[in-house]
Amino acid sequence: MPVSFIVLAAGMGTRMNSDLPKVLHKVAAAPLLHHALTAARSLDPARIVVVTGHGAAEVEAAAKGFDEACECVLQDPQLGTAHAVSMAAPLLEKMSGDVIVLYGDTPFIRPETLEAILHARARHSVVVLGFQARDPGRYGRLISQGESLEKIVEYKDATDEERAVTLCNSGVMCASAELMFDLLTRVENTNAAGEYYLTDLPQLARAQGLSAGVVICDEAETLGINTRRELAAAEAAFQARARLEALENGVTLTAPETVFFALDTHIGRDAIIGPNVLFGLGVTIESAAEVKGFCHLEGCHISRGAQVGPFARLRLGAELAEDVHVGNFVEIKNAILDEGVKVGHLTYLGDADIGEFSNIGAGTVTCNYDGVMKHRTRIGKRAFIGSSTMLVAPVSVGNDALTASGSVITEDVPAEAVALARAKQVNKPGLATKLMARLKTIKAAKGKA
Ligand code: UD1
Ligand code: CA
Repeated sequence: MPVSFIVLAAGMGTRMNSDLPKVLHKVAAAPLLHHALTAARSLDPARIVVVTGHGAAEVEAAAKGFDEACECVLQDPQLGTAHAVSMAAPLLEKMSGDVIVLYGDTPFIRPETLEAILHARARHSVVVLGFQARDPGRYGRLISQGESLEKIVEYKDATDEERAVTLCNSGVMCASAELMFDLLTRVENTNAAGEYYLTDLPQLARAQGLSAGVVICDEAETLGINTRRELAAAEAAFQARARLEALENGVTLTAPETVFFALDTHIGRDAIIGPNVLFGLGVTIESAAEVKGFCHLEGCHISRGAQVGPFARLRLGAELAEDVHVGNFVEIKNAILDEGVKVGHLTYLGDADIGEFSNIGAGTVTCNYDGVMKHRTRIGKRAFIGSSTMLVAPVSVGNDALTASGSVITEDVPAEAVALARAKQVNKPGLATKLMARLKTIKAAKGKA
């Protein structure tokens, strides 16, 4: 049976004290919304509908940026969680299969938990995800017996006896699309907050003789972000888990507590990551590659056996083939380095193709930007680029060619040629000594004045 998701992301997030919509604040380099969408997408859903409200245009752009197939509906005004879910009715009420409600500000729900919810649907018409709260605070309380759920009571509406219950509502809920949207039409706002509560659904289902059930997950999974403090705590929790996962997957981390992963970082077995390495989105590192300390990586691919750093910066579109060496203070952007290329020191390669086994000397710069447009530099196989070569793109250097140190290369270099593009050296015998003597005389004269 197909499953669809509704992700609520309309809320203002007042307590973030921010101009940015809450769900666009980042954990592990990705908007909170992307974390929820990643969990949803792992179940290969038929549809994903994001309910937007505050900052709708930006939230929609982020949803589409994650996956073009995400659909967005606007909730304005925001009259409660049931009202929010009902905004998706025009898109989903005729769908066969189940609908799961998730939250854009709740990033850590695991795919396994979503699977468990779907399995529990075999026994219950409505399934709610609950957790044992260390501090139940103002969460909705699950009034249940074993797996069977009688009702959810919101804190504001709960009796003292109900408030003593520590089994709490995560907010995540599942039912068939047909039942969910039917029950939603029956929800009223006669409660302490005057809102349409999604939490009324289990009781409404039971009133029709249907059953409601609870699936329990760890509290850490249902962590919702409401404040900057919670955002920082969520970042720390994510990183702690990601580091352990990397270690368990056979990655060596010299100083795990100093490495920061992104939501989608992939690292192969037997890779080695040194201290103080920061991952942005879109990084893949293959097996047995090494990233030494203090590297910043994003949007790049590092192949088997490659070595990077220390102090290297790889940006979007940096493609390193097997056994490439990238050393210290090298920046690479939108460039393909074929097998065995060496770029040892102090170099910028942007918008470039470097053929296999070429050597790029220290201080080389691909001058890729003319102030208006970007241009490409193409270097063939086994080329030797002398130290401090400026490659003024668009320009190419042929196979087995060489550029002399300090050259400013503005024209294509044929294969096997040497390109010399610098002023010819002139030596003036004895002039250094004469110059020094003159300078010393001038200085002495000034001292007397
Ligand atoms: C909700 C649950 C509560 C649960 C808690 C878990 C209800 C009525 N209560 O309470 O049982 O313990 O979550 O965190 O569902 N939203 C919209 N549109 C709206 C209202 C809310 O999109 O009109 C979104 C918010 O952006 C937020 C989420 O739904 O991300 C939860 O809404 P919120 O008002 O914060 O509900 P809680 O009081 O936290
Ligand atoms: Ca909340």
